Amino acid sequence: MHRWMRAMLWTPLLGGAMLIMAQQNAIAQTVKISTEGQACLDCHTTSTPVLVKEWQASEHAKQGIDCFSCHQANTGDPAAFDHYGQKIAVIVTPKYCGKCHASETDQYEHSRHAKAAQFIGSLDNVLGEMVEGAPVVQSECKQCHGSVVEIAGEGKFKSTTWPNSGAGRVNPDGSLGSCATCHGRHSFSVAQARQPETCGKCHMGPDHPQIEIYNESMHGVIYNANVDKMNLESKSWIVGKDYTKAPTCVTCHMGGTPGHPEPTHDTGTRLSWTLRPAVSIHQENWEAKRATMKDVCLNCHATGLVENFYQQYDDTVNFYNSKYGEPSTAIMKKLAENHKITPTPFDSEIKWDYFELWHHEGRRARMGTAMMGPDFTQWHGFYEVAKNYYMRFLPEAEKLMPGVTKDAMQSPDNQWIKGLTKEQIEQQLEYYKKRYNQ
Ligand code: HEC
Ligand code: HEC
Ligand code: HEC
Ligand code: HEC
Ligand code: HEC
Ligand code: HEC
Ligand code: HEC
Ligand code: HEC
Repeated sequence: MHRWMRAMLWTPLLGGAMLIMAQQNAIAQTVKISTEGQACLDCHTTSTPVLVKEWQASEHAKQGIDCFSCHQANTGDPAAFDHYGQKIAVIVTPKYCGKCHASETDQYEHSRHAKAAQFIGSLDNVLGEMVEGAPVVQSECKQCHGSVVEIAGEGKFKSTTWPNSGAGRVNPDGSLGSCATCHGRHSFSVAQARQPETCGKCHMGPDHPQIEIYNESMHGVIYNANVDKMNLESKSWIVGKDYTKAPTCVTCHMGGTPGHPEPTHDTGTRLSWTLRPAVSIHQENWEAKRATMKDVCLNCHATGLVENFYQQYDDTVNFYNSKYGEPSTAIMKKLAENHKITPTPFDSEIKWDYFELWHHEGRRARMGTAMMGPDFTQWHGFYEVAKNYYMRFLPEAEKLMPGVTKDAMQSPDNQWIKGLTKEQIEQQLEYYKKRYNQ
């Protein structure tokens, strides 16, 4: 130490400041990791340097949770193997995380996400596995829904089943899901999990465009303009307390509120309808679930707006059901009963048209309203529904079995097809003349 520095240590002000700095250093160094964990670092700092950096910046590193804390094999895990003198597992399943995070893991295991790999038997599966072709299922359905991971030797897995971070992955130890799906490895960030883009990896596309709907909605617009004001890194993240600007997917489906400060890892607890099937039905216990969602909205909106929103939403779902969902389903049933179509899915045009009617455009119409994206309700939704129904589905059904659409066509909703009245036609001509002089 220079003489002038030693001298300065005796001056009370600067000396005090240096002492504080020294203490802070000591605090940083008190975070101890295990000797086993240190051995992992000694090699992995060179063999997988970026992975180690991600871990170093994580909350886990700050709390002394090291490589070995997570990867040390559970007794009875069939995927355990010897790795430089330690029994470890490559796949750190929810069972491992659950040793320290019991409530999050328990909620997750009870959620629909955990069951997402159970789609065998669905029409989607016939489509993927047989019509399109089995080899692609590993790179599409299962990357979102989850694979059944199969062991192929010491620390190795069949390439058709891993890598995979699907929501309901079936792990070798029998647990379901992958916590890295939203948190990412090895940062295990809560900020990342709170961002809509994370959900958008899977909640997107023609049959469930939640991220696109959100980005179009006023909520998404305000979020995107104010990401930096969302306080995403905060430990506590309660709407109205820790942030106010806009709701994200997590705010509405998982997040804490002043009334219920604990977030939930069971994403189904606030949904009153299911918008997936050909005809929407209410969820079990739907009134209570809707009340939980309203508890979120009411931090930012008054009762009048929220009640009217739910009325608009119910109107849309009921209208979709009664005008399109129920009649098209009844027609398909009649065609099947009268052997006009085979029991084999996707072997004739009407089956594709019916499938798209509810599975693509019919979902978009309902989901657009649920999450306030009007373009998805209209141009990607009901417009496509109507075009398919009137121009493809009904004419094909009539061709297969004349008279089969008669009941449906008697509904007042379908009277327009008999032609507009004289007044309606005049009104139209008048409109275009006034507006465009045409
Ligand atoms: C003597 C050096 C060394 C030590 C000690 C070590 N590793 Fe490794 N580890 C490696 C190398 C090298 C690889 C292979 C990297 C590659 O394939 O690119 C590896 C691979 C892995 C894999 C992936 C295995 C696979 O087949 O996909 C995991 C998980 C892993 N190590 C975790 C750990 C953990 C946890 C520890 C501490 C308990 C640890 N390692 C200790 C060198 C080491
Ligand atoms: C909080 C728990 C946790 C900690 C701490 C942790 N890991 Fe992991 N690790 C995981 C999870 C989860 C996976 C993902 C396995 C899967 O689901 O496929 C993983 C995967 C891996 C893999 C294989 C994936 C790949 O990208 O090649 C390696 C290698 C690995 N970890 C090494 C390490 C090392 C080295 C450390 C310490 C610097 C470490 N892990 C710390 C949880 C952890
Ligand atoms: C040995 C105990 C232990 C294990 C195993 C463990 N964690 Fe943690 N985890 C902690 C501690 C301690 C903290 C810091 C205190 C807190 O936030 O609860 C933490 C914090 C977190 C956080 C909050 C991070 C933040 O930015 O605030 C997440 C997310 C998380 N863990 C996920 C996981 C996941 C996923 C796994 C399994 C892959 C896992 N943890 C395994 C002990 C553990
Ligand atoms: C981009 C990710 C992604 C891909 C790829 C994907 N899905 Fe999905 N799937 C989802 C999401 C997200 C949902 C839930 C949508 C909702 O609730 O609105 C879902 C819903 C489903 C459902 C409805 C479940 C129920 O209980 O009603 C089935 C069945 C299904 N998918 C099967 C498949 C099959 C089979 C494939 C491959 C041919 C596939 N999915 C491809 C993300 C995906
Ligand atoms: C669907 C995405 C998703 C998956 C999958 C997921 N998480 Fe989370 N997790 C989140 C979100 C979002 C938050 C932040 C919630 C909040 O504070 O609003 C979070 C927060 C956490 C926290 C911090 C809780 C706290 O109070 O500080 C822990 C710990 C955690 N998750 C563990 C897990 C474990 C363990 C698993 C696997 C069983 C898991 N997560 C799977 C989205 C997910
Ligand atoms: C890895 C893909 C994936 C990610 C990432 C993902 N999900 Fe999902 N999610 C799914 C699948 C697949 C389903 C349908 C599961 C089923 O019914 O079989 C689903 C279902 C849901 C449901 C309906 C639950 C129910 O009980 O009906 C909600 C709500 C949901 N997810 C919200 C979220 C949110 C919020 C995030 C982000 C924090 C998210 N998801 C991230 C794949 C994913
Ligand atoms: C402003 C609150 C809000 C936001 C933000 C929000 N949602 Fe929703 N979400 C809802 C409401 C309300 C419903 C309909 C609930 C019901 O049926 O009672 C819904 C329904 C759903 C469903 C169920 C669809 C089905 O098939 O039954 C999924 C999945 C979903 N949202 C995912 C997401 C994802 C992913 C995001 C972000 C990209 C998101 N939500 C953003 C409020 C929100
Ligand atoms: C974090 C606060 C927040 C939460 C939570 C929230 N919203 Fe909003 N919402 C907003 C903001 C901000 C706007 C945009 C108002 C504006 O036009 O500036 C908005 C706009 C809306 C609109 C459009 C209103 C219009 O005049 O066009 C509807 C409808 C709506 N929200 C319904 C809901 C519902 C239903 C929920 C719960 C499922 C909800 N919101 C949750 C903040 C929130």
